[in-house]
Amino acid sequence: MGSEADQKKIINSIFTKAAEGSRIIKDAEPLRPDYVPPKLLFRDEQITAVAQIVAPILRKQRCSNVLLYGKTGTGKTATARLVLNELRLKAQEFKIPVCLCYTNCRLAGTEYRVVLDLAESVGVKIPFTGLSLGEAYSRVAAQISDNNLNFLVVLDEIDYLAKNSTGNLLYELTRSHEKLTPGGISLIGISNDLRFKEMLDPRVLSSLGEEEMVFPPYSVEELRLILKERVKLAFNDGCITEGAVNLCAALAGSEHGDARRAVDLLRVSAEVAEREGKARVEEHHIKIALQKMEQDRLIEALRVLPLQAKLILLSVIKSEDSSSTGSIYQTYLRLSSRVGVETLTARRVSGILSELDMQGLISANVLSKGRYGRSKRVSLLVSKHLVLDVLTQDPIIAAVI
Ligand SMILES: Nc1ncnc2c1ncn2[C@@H]1O[C@H](COP(=O)(O)OP(=O)(O)O)[C@@H](O)[C@H]1O
Ligand SMILES: [Mg+2]
Repeated sequence: MGSEADQKKIINSIFTKAAEGSRIIKDAEPLRPDYVPPKLLFRDEQITAVAQIVAPILRKQRCSNVLLYGKTGTGKTATARLVLNELRLKAQEFKIPVCLCYTNCRLAGTEYRVVLDLAESVGVKIPFTGLSLGEAYSRVAAQISDNNLNFLVVLDEIDYLAKNSTGNLLYELTRSHEKLTPGGISLIGISNDLRFKEMLDPRVLSSLGEEEMVFPPYSVEELRLILKERVKLAFNDGCITEGAVNLCAALAGSEHGDARRAVDLLRVSAEVAEREGKARVEEHHIKIALQKMEQDRLIEALRVLPLQAKLILLSVIKSEDSSSTGSIYQTYLRLSSRVGVETLTARRVSGILSELDMQGLISANVLSKGRYGRSKRVSLLVSKHLVLDVLTQDPIIAAVI
């Protein structure tokens, strides 16, 4: 324990640094995940196409619905927001009444919350709870037809709605142009999940996918140039080396060219360098940042595992010496009865082990195909301490660790 004077000195130096601000970062805003840069590189084709699709809104017509697809960090959200911003400005310039809404379905979380966003955009008040989805939606629809509104809605991460809800809202929205006269709703749906079409009601899909556009991943070279632009906006001159930027691009491009990951790496590496008291981000800071991000990703993946999967993972750890599926199942039986949850069959447990394998948390290799089915050798692929740390945060699991 330091003396009183020592403690004050520590606190003082932390606060002085905070008050002086960052030496590396001149503006943190461009490093935020939802920042829309003034210019998007390598996306002229997509921007032009989206602008052409939505342009009829300015002639007071409905526009075609469109689906934008592509892996994460390929610029879909940024493209949609950029075009929407310009559309709003143009409508103001020409005094054309338009009604625009951008909402992220994953962040909204439920169909009802999406309707709340729509309601706010069309200027109708809806209580936070108490109405059925149908009633809430009818009020939005009534407002649109009563006021003859031309409503353009961007539903970002729309796959979340298809996976986690009844699908009623998408159904209502896509057939609105048959029902709503006058006024109308046009939709831009955005999805990171390429298989999401398979989950949609065919009627919804045929309406939503009037137009479709795929956003390809960026090449490492493209990422490098995107990062260089971002560095100019966010970093003080000379506060990151060229080698560090190149490494960021190479690492972010190693899975698929993901600009979000690239920008996240920049931000986290600046934090790392700053905490080390350095005035410049160098390559080794990027490597530390990558480890930190991967660890955060892993912690999050472990945290959100269902209870049974957590128990099974714990069983893997606790049956370390004999890591066959049989002995893991024995451990699981013991743990699950102590916890007091439903006991799954060996077959279900084996299925969950395969899922954990697919998530990269364990590896499960088939050992032999004996009379009693296949036996697998299972081993943990991630740090045991980290897994135990995260599992302890779950009070039910903590009781048997
Ligand atoms: N072409 C681009 N030029 C500049 N920055 C980009 C470009 N594409 C993506 N970004 C940046 O990368 C991050 C992720 O982009 P985003 O549009 O959110 O991707 P998506 O919605 O496809 O997952 C954002 O910070 C965004 O500003
Ligand atoms: Mg997005």
